[in-house]
Amino acid sequence: MSDSIRIHGGKPLEGEISVRGAKNFVSKAMVAALLGSTPSMLRNVPDIRDVGVVSGLLRLHGVDLEYDVEAGTVSMDTTSLNPAEAIDIAAHAGSSRIPILLCGPLLHRLGEAVIPDLGGCLIGDRPIDFHLEILKKFGATVEESGDGLHLTAPHGLKGIRHELSYPSVGATEQLLLTAVMAEGITLLENAAVEPEIKDLIDTLQKMGAIISVDTDRTIQIEGVKEMRGYDHTALCDRIEVASWASAALATKGNILVHGAQQRSMGTFLNVFRKVGGEFDVVEGGIRFYHPGGELHSIALQTDVHPGFMTDWQQPLVVALTQATGLSIVHETVYEQRFGFTKALNAMGAQVQLFNECLGDRTCRFGQRNFKHSAVISGPTPLTGADIVVPDLRGGFSHLIAALAATGTSNVSGIGIIDRGYENFRAKLVALGASIE
Ligand code: EPZ
Repeated sequence: MSDSIRIHGGKPLEGEISVRGAKNFVSKAMVAALLGSTPSMLRNVPDIRDVGVVSGLLRLHGVDLEYDVEAGTVSMDTTSLNPAEAIDIAAHAGSSRIPILLCGPLLHRLGEAVIPDLGGCLIGDRPIDFHLEILKKFGATVEESGDGLHLTAPHGLKGIRHELSYPSVGATEQLLLTAVMAEGITLLENAAVEPEIKDLIDTLQKMGAIISVDTDRTIQIEGVKEMRGYDHTALCDRIEVASWASAALATKGNILVHGAQQRSMGTFLNVFRKVGGEFDVVEGGIRFYHPGGELHSIALQTDVHPGFMTDWQQPLVVALTQATGLSIVHETVYEQRFGFTKALNAMGAQVQLFNECLGDRTCRFGQRNFKHSAVISGPTPLTGADIVVPDLRGGFSHLIAALAATGTSNVSGIGIIDRGYENFRAKLVALGASIE
């Protein structure tokens, strides 16, 4: 498939599309299947590249996996589980961070696990430091070998009491996947409680786990000796839904998103309405539309759940370039998530970035020289440009900008968008976009 797309913009996106299961849940649920001694069945699985990556990793470990793309089902049988080589894991995983999440389940089932050295960031301190700290605390021994990290658990894994310094999604998942079969009780304070994590907890409970979640972000897990497989339907991808909603707003369109679930995106819906977008929650989905008139500027900051998701930020910023006045967006989850605005400015937007925490709260990036606050002044007409997409969400945001812009844009590097957006080219065509 071509890695670039030509978009003739300026047309409202109108029509209906479907969104299936959440990328950021499905990959973790597939990892959870490793814990079950009987087969698991995952449903509502989207056809995205990340599912292919995790499927490859599980097969490498001996999992008998069948993926029916059309039906959206993945069945996984772990009867013949075996260890894999770091070099093969690295070849399958690419830059994915999923291998780190395999560690707990593999230590329980096989007594060993390997994290390949994927270069630069993976073995660097920051991106997986929370994960390694947790695994070591459970009793894992981590040894550096030539091609990565080799983990063993000579004395088994034992329940821990742990407080996260930041409610990291991945670290919370790491702890859950390890604690469910660790000996004794585990208590996690300051846990992330994203809907995708709640769905993972539901899945683990079906498998035999005993997990309770308190309202104060505390999760308690009572370890069990054995777990079975599950049959579970993934929750909808609320990031993809919000991306299409933002596309409807930016292009003055009207999109019915089948599969969208109100309950997991209340915070987004509030902001969408404050900006001037409208939506109707209907049977089986949500219709998002621009009701006419001006869009309104807003001030918002990204946050962990139940705050405004960092992954919603990039698509919405494109719509904010069409709002009247000054909008302020303070990014508090990732320190460098505004790189995509450079291309927006080249298309005519006026987005200024600041090191300071703008808004009513300071965050951990405040004194560290990261341009993590944006001021967007609008409305500014956008015109087509040649763009190279930087990352998954930034890339989809560039597509939205190109669709909203007058004239033609050539967007290249779009393969990265397949990591998290199922059949986005076909969906664009279904919505009346003029693309080549
Ligand atoms: C998950 O990433 C998602 N990815 C991200 O979605 C999402 O943006 C993020 O959660 C926040 O919601 C997947 O689920 C595959 P974190 P994760 O650990 O788990 C720092 C997308 O586009 N941190 O909550 O990796 C980290 O640098 C992706 O779909 C450490 O310092 O995110 C960040 O600043 C992008 N050390 C913060 O915590 C660690 O060991 C939150 O990251 C781990 C994280």
